[in-house]
Amino acid sequence: MNVKPDFSKGRNLAETAPAFLSVWDIHAYYGESYIVQGVDFNVHEGEILALLGRNGAGKTSTLRAIARLDNPAITHGEVWLDHQPLHLMNSYKAAQAGIALVPEDRRIIAGLTVEENLKLAQIAPPIGWSIERLYELFPRLGERRMQEGVTLSGGEQQMLAIARALARDIKVLLLDEPYEGLAPVIVDEIERTLRTIKEQGITTVIVEQNAVRALELADRSVILDTGTVVFDGSAAEVLQNKELREEYLAI
Ligand SMILES: Nc1ncnc2c1ncn2[C@@H]1O[C@H](COP(=O)(O)OP(=O)(O)O)[C@@H](O)[C@H]1O
Ligand SMILES: [Mg+2]
Repeated sequence: MNVKPDFSKGRNLAETAPAFLSVWDIHAYYGESYIVQGVDFNVHEGEILALLGRNGAGKTSTLRAIARLDNPAITHGEVWLDHQPLHLMNSYKAAQAGIALVPEDRRIIAGLTVEENLKLAQIAPPIGWSIERLYELFPRLGERRMQEGVTLSGGEQQMLAIARALARDIKVLLLDEPYEGLAPVIVDEIERTLRTIKEQGITTVIVEQNAVRALELADRSVILDTGTVVFDGSAAEVLQNKELREEYLAI
């Protein structure tokens, strides 16, 4: 019998600060499919958490559940953001409460320029960073402000998707595979920006297949396997733990 080590044991011991985003025992379904099977973890204010796990582990589903998209539907559990009960909200209310999900496909709106994409995000309050401040953070977007968003390179579209999230007043940025398909130099550029965003006090949860890059950026990591948490600890610990990486990340 193959007894798997339980890396999740004692995982709350290091957590002394109160949670800013608290995911408490959430269970969620796509129709009849039970996918998120009792996930819990905390994210502290201002930190970067890498949410990792193999393909199909439930990372995207967990982000979608936190952002309160219709699917998967949460049937049990609670999600709290800065004392606000996200689990009682729809996606619109959750966004107003400060959750921003940048999905894997980036969803840049066709027919709109870079600037129009950003302005559209600010059509209703709460408004976040000014357009000028966003161009300071992403100079490439400033240079291409009049270009149609969907004609940008993959890396620039990712920057636009992140900028669009920051154009609203957010508390937590949820990034689903932001480095996917991007050249290492572009990943470097986005990583630098994510560090700047962190310095400005934004809390980030990053899901990445490029686990090493995400772990180098992150403070802590949560690893999922078949819809449950199998590790919760420091990012450095995952980088150092070969057994853990081989078992759950295949790296
Ligand atoms: N819309 C859906 N309907 C039914 N099952 C889904 C749907 N989306 C994802 N799944 C299933 O949920 C599981 C977790 O998927 P996902 O959250 O996308 O994993 P990850 O992002 O970690 O790769 C997979 O088995 C996947 O097939
Ligand atoms: Mg995914």
